[in-house]
Amino acid sequence: MAEIIDGKKIASEIRDGIRTRVADMEKKTGGRPGLAVVLVGNNPASAVYVRMKGKGCEEVGIKSFSYSLPENASEKELLALVDDLNRNREINGILVQLPLPGQIKEKSVIYGIDPAKDVDGFHPVNVGKLLIGDEDCFFPCTPYGCQELIARHVKDLKGKHLVIVGRSNIVGKPLANMMVQKNSRANCIVTVCHTAAPDIGYHTRQADILVVAAGSPEMVTGDMVKKGAVVIDVGTNRVQDPADATKTRLVGDVKFDEVSMVASAITPVPGGVGPMTITMLLKNTVKAYMIQNGVA
Ligand code: GUN
Repeated sequence: MAEIIDGKKIASEIRDGIRTRVADMEKKTGGRPGLAVVLVGNNPASAVYVRMKGKGCEEVGIKSFSYSLPENASEKELLALVDDLNRNREINGILVQLPLPGQIKEKSVIYGIDPAKDVDGFHPVNVGKLLIGDEDCFFPCTPYGCQELIARHVKDLKGKHLVIVGRSNIVGKPLANMMVQKNSRANCIVTVCHTAAPDIGYHTRQADILVVAAGSPEMVTGDMVKKGAVVIDVGTNRVQDPADATKTRLVGDVKFDEVSMVASAITPVPGGVGPMTITMLLKNTVKAYMIQNGVA
């Protein structure tokens, strides 16, 4: 039976460290980091995430500023808000929750955020810096959280085969580029596989470390995993409870019961990657404050 990687506990330890840093910084600079979180429309899952982000800020002493625009808000309105936030010196980080309603192009919004405040790490300036290994950038929060869990569970990453299922701009692509860098938290041999692979299992079975970010409930089964692999499940899928049709439950992209019998360590859903994502957002916000205020 695999070790359960307790993302909640690790996230809480990291948040303790962030809280101390924020308090120290306040003594040094007289100010605290500020994060603006923007929600557009009525997506219930997005509303939950945005609330959790505000709560995470509160927990560590980061000032949180919350903005809501209606479902029918125009792209122009949102860009005007982003522009205000770019200029506001109290705000060090800006996060516009995705997905956005259809009338607003995500690209326009992502490109509109000042790269120095882009704590999501989605702006092409930050994506480019990540690719070339310039650490003066923001790593996107979910892959950053995955890297933290991996680095804590695999002592020597050099030459390990990391296989990622999924090629999204939010997880798969940035994680691949982070883990291929030549540093002690990476230095892996990286494979990215996706829906075009005729046999995903052929790739996943070769993984020393397997990250699944495909958005497909329980798609990775026990026979697709090498014995002793470390498995990171990024999926959060709400499905009908087979035992009770009136209820739903949250499952990952990995069939936990089967894969936990083969892997050496595995993240649960919930309680694995999820809590890490918000924690890394808090870490990025502190970094943004430090850079913008010239604090070493
Ligand atoms: N929607 C799902 N994940 C994310 C994320 O990491 N950042 C933002 N802004 N929206 C998301």
